[in-house]
Amino acid sequence: MTTLNILIYALCLFSAQITAQRIIGKFELPQAGLADPARAFVRVSNATWTGHYHLNRHGEFSLTGLSVGEYDLALNSLDFALASTNFYTLAVHDDGYDVYQNVPGILASNTPVPLASKLNFSAENVRVKRFADPDQTSGILEMIPFWGVLKQYPMLGVVMGVMVVIALMPTIVGFIDPEFSERVLQAQQQVADNRKPAPPKQ
Ligand SMILES: *[C@@H]1O[C@H](CO)[C@@H](O)[C@H](O)[C@H]1NC(C)=O
Ligand SMILES: *[C@@H]1O[C@H](CO)[C@@H](O)[C@H](O)[C@H]1NC(C)=O
Repeated sequence: MTTLNILIYALCLFSAQITAQRIIGKFELPQAGLADPARAFVRVSNATWTGHYHLNRHGEFSLTGLSVGEYDLALNSLDFALASTNFYTLAVHDDGYDVYQNVPGILASNTPVPLASKLNFSAENVRVKRFADPDQTSGILEMIPFWGVLKQYPMLGVVMGVMVVIALMPTIVGFIDPEFSERVLQAQQQVADNRKPAPPKQ
């Protein structure tokens, strides 16, 4: 009896191994501009298990050892994203598998339509993220105080710039010509002396 149980168990394990499928997918990646496809991975998980599958340099990946059941599938990448969503549901059947789009925050329809291209994502669906964008400059500009106001009233910026230059002028000139400040002081002294009422004549 126990031997039979063990046999049945072994048979189940064996058939599970056979039904476990090799699922192949591909992201059509532009070869230029992508740092390293291996930085991206596909995360497949169910309630009790999580697997990570890295991409090769052609953007291909292979999900192995998945038994029949439903899985959450997510693309994890710093370098690119998918135009529609990075989240999918993968349903593995005995004789194949289906992939469904899974947009977070939107309830799945009662009759979801599987993707015809399954896990093959064509170039027009792949969005490469670029970090060295003109956006970076705007990020730095946003750090300038009152940038929002200045953007609305550029003249205010010009006036403030002129005021800053005038305020800094003595420092700047002093830096360029150290004797200048001294001469300014002397000149100011002279003006002050001239303004003094002349001593009363006797
Ligand atoms: C989760 O997936 C693993 C790997 O395919 C499988 O062995 C396990 O039975 C699954 N668990 C559930 C709760 O479906
Ligand atoms: C996905 O691409 C692979 C290889 O690029 C191919 O073998 C497979 O048939 C494709 N599957 C679908 C559903 O288009």
